Amino acid sequence: MSKELLVAPSILSADFLDMGRALSLMEEAGADWVHVDVMDGHFVPNITMGVPLVAAIRPQTPLVIDAHLMVSNPCRQIPWFLDAGADIVTFHIEAVSEGEAHDAIAAIHEGGARAGISVKPKTDISLLAPFMGEVDMVLVMSVEPGFSGQSFIEGSEERIAAVREMAASTGADIMVQVDGGIGGATVARVADAGVDCIVCGNAFFKADDPRAVPAALRAAAGR
Ligand code: DX5
Ligand code: ZN
Repeated sequence: MSKELLVAPSILSADFLDMGRALSLMEEAGADWVHVDVMDGHFVPNITMGVPLVAAIRPQTPLVIDAHLMVSNPCRQIPWFLDAGADIVTFHIEAVSEGEAHDAIAAIHEGGARAGISVKPKTDISLLAPFMGEVDMVLVMSVEPGFSGQSFIEGSEERIAAVREMAASTGADIMVQVDGGIGGATVARVADAGVDCIVCGNAFFKADDPRAVPAALRAAAGR
C-alpha cells in the first residue's frame, strides 16, 4: 500500500458563510476531494446540506466531489446528486435492501460516477461481501455518522483491514476510505491498515493553517 494518501476535507466543518474560500483553501492545500456530508435528519439526527450545494460548488472547483449520503432513501436521491455533478456517490448499506444496493450502484455507474458504500461502526463488515465485485469504494465510518468533531472509535483500523482482506480474497479492486475523527493522532493507524483516502473535517478546517494539513497528514502516514 504505497499509493499517495488521498485527502478529502469535509465541508461540514467549513465556514458556511464563505464556502468559496473553503474550496480555495482545499485547492491551495493540495487536497484531492471535497467531501460533502449530506444528512437528512432521519437516517442520522442532523440535517446539513444537499443537492443545491453540490450544484453550486461543481462549477467552482476542479476537485473531485465526494458525496456522502447519510439519508434514508438514497435510491431516490442519487439521480439528483449525479445531475448536480457529484463524481463519487456513497450511500449507507444500513439504508437499503440488498437489491436496492445493487440498483443504487448501477444507477451511480449509469450516471458516470463512482459508487461508494458505507458502513456505520457497528455494522458487520461481512454485509459488504455481495457488493465487492461492483462497488468502487468502501467507506468505513470511524465515528457514528451525524456530526463532525467526534473522537475516532478505537478498533476502526481493524475494520479497514477486514475490508482490505475481503477485497483481496475476492480480487476486488476497490478503494477504502475512512471518515470520522481522522487527524495527526490517528492517520498513521488507518494508513497502516490499508486505507486509500481519509476524510478530515475539523482536522482540516479548524487547523491554524489548513493549507499545511494534507502534506502533514501524508507525512504522518508515510505516504
Ligand atoms: C460524520 C461525517 C464525517 C465528519 C468528519 O457523519 O460523515 O465526514 O464530518 O468530520 P471530522 O473529521 O471532524 O470527524
Ligand atoms: Zn462523511
